[in-house]
Order: sequence, then structure tokens, then C-alpha cells
Amino acid sequence: MPEFPIYDAFDIPDMTMTPYAAPFSCNWIQVLDAIVDPVHTAFLHQSQFSDGFGELGEIEFYERDKIRFLGTATRRVGDNIWVRVNELILPNFTQAGAAFAADGTRQRFFGRSAFTRWVVPVDDEHCIAYAWGNFGERGDPHEWNTPEGMQLIEQGELIDRSYEQKQESPGDVEAVEGMGAISDHEKEYLVSGDRGVAMYRRQIRKLCRHLQNGKVLPQPADLVNGPGRAIPTHGSDTVLPMPIRDDENDSELLRGCNDKVMSIIFAADHLEGAHRDQTIIEQLKSIVSNV
Ligand SMILES: [Fe+2]
Repeated sequence: MPEFPIYDAFDIPDMTMTPYAAPFSCNWIQVLDAIVDPVHTAFLHQSQFSDGFGELGEIEFYERDKIRFLGTATRRVGDNIWVRVNELILPNFTQAGAAFAADGTRQRFFGRSAFTRWVVPVDDEHCIAYAWGNFGERGDPHEWNTPEGMQLIEQGELIDRSYEQKQESPGDVEAVEGMGAISDHEKEYLVSGDRGVAMYRRQIRKLCRHLQNGKVLPQPADLVNGPGRAIPTHGSDTVLPMPIRDDENDSELLRGCNDKVMSIIFAADHLEGAHRDQTIIEQLKSIVSNV
């Protein structure tokens, strides 16, 4: 049994964690695909969460430490630039940004993921997302899972909806289940926005082959030096005031902002807890004062 991974998300000050479980009638890989696909949010989540999601923005992907995959979407919302980071740690740990706390209109510095989640296969055609909903200043503002109905909402979407409601306003569940119980990868046409999907699937395949050959696989707990240390996670939203400039192409400005934000976040990976968050937040704020 591998060492139990301790994630920083288990202990963020002023954050309330509420557990939930959400069933999916499809292969677990389809649920993972959505995490490293920043493009679907523009088409699926604009009407559910906020207008800011409707911008496609600039997207970027990162593969780090053999088992960590990140997809970012950097969008312009008025005079602001919004950098949203989703994270997948193999085999099945996921974080997305907030569903309701960030819409790109208000400044936010390393607002933490509102969902800490494990996608657990039941069989080839079913899986369950076991998760913590994170609430408070730094996650989502309201507790949307009530004590009577812990399973009501998954990543900001109602689970119990009628067929008509699902047709009218499809969410992640319809997107991932709609491909069939096991989607046929041979019928896919992967494009540039699917680079994250291709990257992590390739690595899962490689690690499966290693496992078959009796090799020891990298574990989430290996991401930190020494037992008991918290694994830093990156799922987050940062919104910086950065108006359009006359002298710079806006998509280049967005890309530059994404690079800056991500290098600040990555540079603090060796720090822990509130100290890491504080360091990241201060440096993000210094980008703003330099502007
Ligand atoms: Fe989604």
C-alpha cells in the first residue's frame, strides 16, 4: 500500500470542507479528461457559472514531476485578466478553480480550488467522484451542499436533475456520459486544445505498462520530501487588473500574464501551508503594482 498522500488542501485556514460523492455512468478516464480540458468550460459553463467562462482565452498545459498535469485558461474580462488553473495528479486526484467565487470581474489572488476530488473507478463503465467541497473566502463563497443532501452538487452542478433539465442545460455529467460508457478513442480528432488530454493519457498508458512489468510507480506522496509534508496543489483562480494596451497584442499580454502567474505559483512549490500561499499572493500583488 503506498504512503497516504497529505494534500495542502486538507488544511487551508478559514476553509470549510464538506464531503460529497457523485456517481458517473461512464469510464473514469472520461471524467479525468474534463479536468485537463480548459476549452470545454467556454462552451459548457458560461450559462451555468458566469459570462467570463464564455471567452476561450489563451490555454496552456504543463506536465510536471511525472504525475502532475495542469491546464490553464487565461481570459480577458473587461479590464482584468483571469488565470484559471486545473490540476490532475495521477492516478485520479483532481482540482479545478472555483465555480462561483471567480468570474473574472473581481480581483483575486491565488483563490483556491473549490473542489478536491478523487475519481474512483467502480468498473469499466462506472465511477464515483469522492470529493471535498471547499468553502470560505478562498474557495467558493457559499456551502452549496446542504447537510440533508450531501450529494446535491458536483463541481458546481446539480446532480439530481430531470432529463429535460439535462437537455436544456447540459453540464459536465452530460458531456462525459454523452460520449458513451466507454468512448472510442479511435473516433476522436484531437486538436491543440486536447494537448493536456493527450499528455496525461500517454503517461497513464506508460505507467500501466511499467506496472505490468513489475516496476514501482511514482506516487503522489513522492511529490514532497519526507513523510507528513503536505503536497502543494495548484487548482486556483487569479484575477489581475490589467487593461488592454495600445502597444501590445492582447493575446500576447494574456500569454505573458499566464506565464508570470504560473512561474510565481511553481516557484513556491518548496514552501508549505499558509507561508506558501502568502508568498504567492504577495508576488501576484507585485505584478499589479508594477503595472
Ligand atoms: Fe467542466
